Amino acid sequence: MRKTVIAASAAALFSMAVTAAAVKPEAAIHYRQSVYTMIGWNFVPMVDMIKNKTPWDGAEFSKNADRIAFLAPQLLEGFPEGSDKGADTEAKPEIWKNMDDFKSKMSDLVRETKALSDVAKAGDETKTREQFKKTAGACKSCHDKYRKEE
Ligand code: HEC
Repeated sequence: MRKTVIAASAAALFSMAVTAAAVKPEAAIHYRQSVYTMIGWNFVPMVDMIKNKTPWDGAEFSKNADRIAFLAPQLLEGFPEGSDKGADTEAKPEIWKNMDDFKSKMSDLVRETKALSDVAKAGDETKTREQFKKTAGACKSCHDKYRKEE
């Protein structure tokens, strides 16, 4: 039983390594930009509510927050070694020189987006607004350091 489990996980690890090596830089760039595009799509209506450009709609806000919390943990795999070039990208090469720091900024994003989804679900507008600031701060702190100016 134990042996089977170990063999199976070794096989899984091996195929993961093979997959990672086989990913083309342009595919990774396209992937991460797509995930960011989906995050941005859901972020904009939230910003509009935060800025009172549109009326507060707790259910709508919560739906968008859920989607972002689901997408955020999928970003990191879009930054494999070697994907600093290969297609048009705004990712700075510093990402791969400071991968531990970049990963920690990704963890911050995952934590803050999860917290936002939880607080929005609980339905407290004031707390949701506060948590939104922290979430947007996590986006900004990474963009300032690792995303090229457009
Ligand atoms: C850990 C770093 C990091 C965090 C956190 C982060 N981003 Fe980004 N973001 C990037 C990088 C790097 C790019 C450029 C990707 C590329 O062009 O390859 C980017 C690109 C984008 C894009 C442009 C996508 C495109 O190509 O059209 C949008 C929109 C975006 N981010 C929104 C957000 C939002 C909203 C948040 C917070 C909820 C966020 N990002 C959090 C690093 C981050």
